[in-house]
Amino acid sequence: MSDDLIEKGKENAAVKAVDENVKKGMVLGIGSGSTVVYAVKRIAELNNESNLDLKCIPTSFQAYNLIIDNGLNLVSIDRYPVIDLDIDGADEIDKNLNAIKGGGGCLVQEKIIASISKNFILIADYRKDSEFFGENWKKGIPIEIIPLARVPLMKKFEELGGKPILRMAKAKSGPLVTDNGNFIIDVDFGIVKNPSEINNKLISIPGVVDTGLFIGMASKAYFGQKDGSVTTR
Ligand code: A5P
Repeated sequence: MSDDLIEKGKENAAVKAVDENVKKGMVLGIGSGSTVVYAVKRIAELNNESNLDLKCIPTSFQAYNLIIDNGLNLVSIDRYPVIDLDIDGADEIDKNLNAIKGGGGCLVQEKIIASISKNFILIADYRKDSEFFGENWKKGIPIEIIPLARVPLMKKFEELGGKPILRMAKAKSGPLVTDNGNFIIDVDFGIVKNPSEINNKLISIPGVVDTGLFIGMASKAYFGQKDGSVTTR
């Protein structure tokens, strides 16, 4: 499938989500990844054109820089511990609006911001829309871990039926290090029909910081389609 159609799908979903949900004076959570780039551009356009007085809270180093580079007002959760609207991408979204996130390595801060947002919406292209996790996203569930626990955790994830792979850095020898100084293990559980159950098991293991399973958090998802339309659910 052409990269242009995918990029257009991301942009269309992002623009529609921003236009329908961003309102004057809001405190916004700014997600991470390539789709969010289009959302931030649109947020900055609206903010400038209509003087919306928006305040933005980042979910990652990338989002921090997006806010600064687009001339938006950067604020912190210390001052704004309740966020009006969080807009973020996803790697896969299941039929119940649960999401897999963390393909870009930013899941922990993303989940904190989503958890303190009154409204959490997802933006994605058509490839991310699934009935069950694992249908379209084949890289497994990203799990952020404390580096010391790496070897025993790989073993535990196998015991739970997964195939764990330590995510490696690009352009550096060794593992990827997250914004929080941790590692990520991607665990392939195949098709996941019980994400809540798997999530509960995973987060109860010492050494697991958090998982990329966002269960029951999103209120709406926008999917940019190949024909240029945007569907929601
Ligand atoms: C970042 O770690 C992720 O959770 C992203 O939100 C997710 O991977 C979606 O990214 P894209 O918009 O680049 O597909």
